[in-house]
Amino acid sequence: MPQHVGIIMDGNGRWAKKRGLPRTAGHTVGANNFRTITKYCSNIGIPYLTVYAFSTENWKRPADEVQALMKLFRQYLEEALRDFQEENIKVIFLGDKSGFAPELQELIERTEKASAQKTGMVLNIAMNYGGRDEITKAARELAQEVKDGRLSVEEIDEKAISDHLYTAGQPDPDLIIRPSGERRISNFLLWQSAYAEYVTMDVLWPDFKPKDLEKALDEYAMRNRRFGGV
Ligand code: FPP
Repeated sequence: MPQHVGIIMDGNGRWAKKRGLPRTAGHTVGANNFRTITKYCSNIGIPYLTVYAFSTENWKRPADEVQALMKLFRQYLEEALRDFQEENIKVIFLGDKSGFAPELQELIERTEKASAQKTGMVLNIAMNYGGRDEITKAARELAQEVKDGRLSVEEIDEKAISDHLYTAGQPDPDLIIRPSGERRISNFLLWQSAYAEYVTMDVLWPDFKPKDLEKALDEYAMRNRRFGGV
C-alpha cells in the first residue's frame, strides 16, 4: 500500500464535451467524484492523499470557467468539510492562498483549522499550486534566512529544501495517478515526485471509480522500485 498517493483530476472538460454540456458541468461532476474518491482512500487506509484541483497556470482559462471553478470550490469545500470531519480527515491546502478571493481564503483557513487535530488521512488539496512556484518560494525563503544570518549556505541540503515546501514533514508521494489519457506531470509535486511511480489511465476523471483506483494500486504493487539502486 502506498503511503502517499497523488491524483491529477483531469478530463472534466472532455467528459462534458462528449455529452454536449458546458465544461463547467464536467467540473461539477468532477468535484462530486473528488468527494467519493477521497472517502474511499480514507476508508482503505491510505495515509496521505494529494489531489490537484487548480494549478498556477489554470488562471489562463476563460474567465467564466475560472469563476465557475471558484464557486465550486466554495460550495464543495463547505459540504466536503462536513463529510471529512466525520471521516476524521485532516485537510491541508498546498499552494499560494493569497491568489484567492478573501472569502475563499477564509474558508480555506477555517477548514485547515477545523481539521488540524484530526488523526486520520491527510488530504492535501493543491489549489493555485505549481511545483515550480513552490520550489521558487523555498529558494526565496532559504535565501532570506542566509541573508538574515539564520542559516549558512552549507546547511542548504535536500532536507532544507523539502522543509520549505508546502508538504513539509510529509512523506514523498509513492504513486501518482493521472486519469484522462494525458501523459504529463503538469507542474504537479515536481520535487516530491522524484521517485514516484506514475500510472496514467484512459478514463476521464468524472468516470474514475474506486475500481480504477484499485487498478492503479494493483499496478503500483507490481512495480519494482529501486530508487536509483539495483
Ligand atoms: C482538469 O480537467 C480539472 C480541473 C482544472 C479542475 C479540477 C477540479 C475539480 C475536480 C473540482 C475539485 C473540487 C474541490 C473542492 C477540490 P480539465 O478541465 O483540464 O479537463 P480537460 O483536459 O478534459 O479539458
